[in-house]
Amino acid sequence: MSGQGEPVAMTARRSGPLSGVAEVPGDKSISHRALILGAMAVGETRVTGLLEGQDVLDTGAAMRAFGAGVVRHGPGEWSVNGVGVGGFAEPEAVIDCGNSGTGVRLIMGAMATSAITATFTGDASLRKRPMGRVSEPLALFGARAHGRAGGRLPMTVVGAADPVPVRYALPVPSAQVKSAVLLAGLNAPGQTVVIEREPTRDHSERMLRGFGATISVEETGEGHVITLTGRPELRPQVVAVPRDPSSAAFPVCAALIVEGSDILVPGVSRNPTRVGLYLTLAEMGADIAFLSPREEGGEPVADLRVRFSGAMQGIEVPAARAASMIDEYPILSVVAAFAEGVTVMRGVRELRVKESDRIDAMARGLEACGVRVEEDADTLIVHGMGPGGVPGGAVCATHIDHRIAMSFLVLGLAARQAVSIDDGSPIATSFPAFAGLMAGLGAQIARAG
Ligand code: S3P
Repeated sequence: MSGQGEPVAMTARRSGPLSGVAEVPGDKSISHRALILGAMAVGETRVTGLLEGQDVLDTGAAMRAFGAGVVRHGPGEWSVNGVGVGGFAEPEAVIDCGNSGTGVRLIMGAMATSAITATFTGDASLRKRPMGRVSEPLALFGARAHGRAGGRLPMTVVGAADPVPVRYALPVPSAQVKSAVLLAGLNAPGQTVVIEREPTRDHSERMLRGFGATISVEETGEGHVITLTGRPELRPQVVAVPRDPSSAAFPVCAALIVEGSDILVPGVSRNPTRVGLYLTLAEMGADIAFLSPREEGGEPVADLRVRFSGAMQGIEVPAARAASMIDEYPILSVVAAFAEGVTVMRGVRELRVKESDRIDAMARGLEACGVRVEEDADTLIVHGMGPGGVPGGAVCATHIDHRIAMSFLVLGLAARQAVSIDDGSPIATSFPAFAGLMAGLGAQIARAG
């Protein structure tokens, strides 16, 4: 959990060239899914490279509460003894998913078609986020959910004793909602169909196939039509989690804007549904080479060599790219502040319902650091000030949001004056080693004091 202990103020100062190797942690999306699907398989799933961030640890604890055996054997090495599809036990206590929207939404889906009841909660950030987007499709299976006003946590889900399969067109582009419906479909008889107009990350589809489920994806005029056959026996797997492209984005973007930098970020996932930031940076003129492309754990990966890129150009990021870089807009807006010209990010309304309202959080912090920003409900526009041109010198509010915290610390590495954040503790949800890793590259990031 985050945001529930003492806030940890941190400061980043203008730094010399960053250099060395940045070993970023395992992919968060894949880590959650490895634990949840492991818990729904029969037998022992082994996981290597698991992200040991608080979000994933909370999902591991939840899987234990539903009856699975979840054991840590060493750094990133875990096993999950699954109870099988439909085998979840009823948890004795409230399930606390901490800061994690992915954790709570996927687990709600996974339990919604079993005849058990569970109550979910989370930290102050998660309790503000909309859960109706998940409870509504789960009701179609026959589950009932009772939450606070506006579909907020805490929420109790009464699983369907006699679930029916569902055909559901996603009203918002969300891999979390898609995955919740697919996981619920596992214990419904017959075929569950999810239709997504805009493709979102496809880790659930890939991993369900890997665990032995029958799942097909058809491209039609309506978009992706994903069909899952219910009641499979999932077979335990060996899951090698690739490194997280969303976490890699922080050292990568830091190296792009800190003069003279040259770093290597090995083994980063290049899953096509996650590469939007990297396409965007290339269009802006970033110097990133993708070395030794290969396949690891069923995902394409590469080693990223990243060099300071001088005057990058502001661009218009198309709305159609939003789903493939949804978590990367905060750090892109930092790069945009050091680019020449204007960067326009369209189709980004989903940012308003993340761990914080990320459009508002970035706009206010960038303005405090002397950057001109425009926004509307669905758009963020950053007026670039050129390399080294951002004044900085502010304390930015992070709103219990790890990516806002890391983004402003990266900004401080290249701004003229130091940049502080009010609370760096949420960074532990996704990238516990962030400060140490960045310091190892030569970044001046420390607790404020
Ligand atoms: C995730 C999906 C995205 C993303 C989140 C992880 C996932 O959320 O922002 O960090 O693992 O499915 P949405 O599905 O709400 O867009």
